Formats: sequence, C-alpha cells, structure tokens
Amino acid sequence: MSGAGAGAPDQYGVAGHPVAHSWSPFIHGMFAKATAQNLVYRLFDIAPAEFRRETLRLLTSGVRGLNITLPHKQSAAELVNELTPRAARAQAVNTIACFDDAKLIGDNTDGVGLVCDLEQNLAVTLQQKRVLVLGAGGAVRGVLAPLLERDLAQLVIANRTAAKARRLAADFGDLGPVMGCGFDEIDGPPFDLIVNGTSASLQGEMPELPVGLVCEDTVCYDMAYGSGQTPFTLWARSLHAKRTTKGWGMLVEQAAAAFVLWRGIRPDTKPVMEALEQYR
Ligand code: ATR
Repeated sequence: MSGAGAGAPDQYGVAGHPVAHSWSPFIHGMFAKATAQNLVYRLFDIAPAEFRRETLRLLTSGVRGLNITLPHKQSAAELVNELTPRAARAQAVNTIACFDDAKLIGDNTDGVGLVCDLEQNLAVTLQQKRVLVLGAGGAVRGVLAPLLERDLAQLVIANRTAAKARRLAADFGDLGPVMGCGFDEIDGPPFDLIVNGTSASLQGEMPELPVGLVCEDTVCYDMAYGSGQTPFTLWARSLHAKRTTKGWGMLVEQAAAAFVLWRGIRPDTKPVMEALEQYR
C-alpha cells in the first residue's frame, strides 16, 4: 500500500450490474483524500455471466480491492480464497482484498455498517429490543449476525417467500432468538426497530404488512438509499413513526470498514455524511 505522492496510485473499485448510480467512488475518494492515501477508485459494470472471469482478471492485473454490489455478493463468496468469519456466516461478500501474497480475502462489512450507523450515528440502543427485518435475500444475510450479536430480545425475519425467511432463521438460530415467517404471520406488539432489507423500495413498492407493527417510537430503517422518501419510509410515517431513515449511513459505514481492511486506517465518516446531506 502506498501513501500520497508515492508513485502510481493503488487501484480499487466497485463491481456491480448496474453500477453507474454508485456513490462509492465519491465516498472512497473523500476517505483517500482525508487519510492521504494514494489510490484511485473506479466503477466496474460486470454482467453476471462475466463476473468470475472479469473479476479475477481485474484482481490479477493490479486491482488491490473491490467492493461487490448487486447482484454479485453471493458469487463473490464462491470466488475468493478465504472468507472472514462474518462473510462465511453471511455466505455473501461485499469487499474483496488482494494482498501481496495474491490471496483473495472476502469480507462482509454490510452488517457492521448497519449496526454502526444505528448505534453511533442514530443513537439507537439494540440490546433487549424487538427487531423486525423485512426480506431474506443477500442484503439481509449480511446483517443478521451483527444484529444478533447485540443481545436482542427477539429478531423476526419476514419475507414474501416465507420459506426463505424460515431457512434463514434456522441458519442463524444459534446466535440468538430469531424466527422466520411470511408477512401475514408477523405479530404485534409494535417493534422497537424495523429494517427494510427487501428490494421492494427499488421497484417503488411496499409489501402489505399487518397493522399494529409500528408505534411512534418504532425506528424504521430502509436499507435502500436515494433522495426523498421511499415507499417504506412513507408507510412508516403514515403510521406516525417519528424516526424514519434511509441507508446512507450504512453505505458510508460499510465503506469505512472496507477501507480499514484495504488500507489499515480508519477514515472519519462524519465529513462524508455531511457532504452527502444534500443528496439524501
Ligand atoms: P438483495 O441482494 O438486495 O437482498 P435479493 O437476494 O434478490 O437481493 O433479495 C431481494 C429480497 O427482496 C427478497 O427477500 C425478495 O423477496 P422474495 O424472497 O420473496 O423474492 C424481496 N422482494 C423483492 N421485491 C419485493 C416486493 N415487491 N415485495 C416484497 N418483497 C420483495
């Protein structure tokens, strides 16, 4: 790894499909500047059929690290030489690091990104709280272990396809009190925290949920980000939830954790959050 002004910059980037909308170059660009790291960070739009070949080509031709986004997180877990324990748990990788021994390490920083945003940026206490997670895809896989490590009172995973939620609950049941169900089986009283990890927001949709899940104090967190309200935050507000938020903080915190893996230095996330304020 090289500091500022030490020859050619080290190469990093994000691989996804599509990927043009990604804020990662902006975020990592700010981190690099603030920590005086000599690196460039680019977008790599890679179609699923090309993922393995193209990603290996990049990582054997000088690219030292990649963030992995939709739809490649599970394929990335199969591509690397070694998984960190949290990536192995998730069976999904959002960060690949290629060190000097050419070994590819796969990590998953999504969960620590979410928990860090909740606890440190939003001052949400998770211990002994009832948490509902909507969705059972790759995005949700990454966040279950870090949530369960917080000694929750209960974690309910609810999904359109109930069997997938039940399977996930079984996979993570050794870490804490977790159950999986379909949307129509979710039971009150209102939850302390609801995390939307479905991709429904991206399609402009909000799944139909039973009444009684939200009260004024329920923190409603959409892992999706973008400008303005999402169908999920609109739903939460219509039920008078006072605290609704989108995934910008998770995005920045997972990026910071990836930066630590790559560069061994922790960037300050606050200035980046402030710079993104105008787009939120
Ligand atoms: P990601 O990597 O974003 O998690 P994914 O693995 O394809 O993507 O998972 C998408 C999740 O969003 C799934 O839980 C999916 O539900 P199903 O398992 O039933 O397919 C959920 N999802 C997608 N569109 C949805 C919609 N319109 N309403 C409810 N859930 C939806």
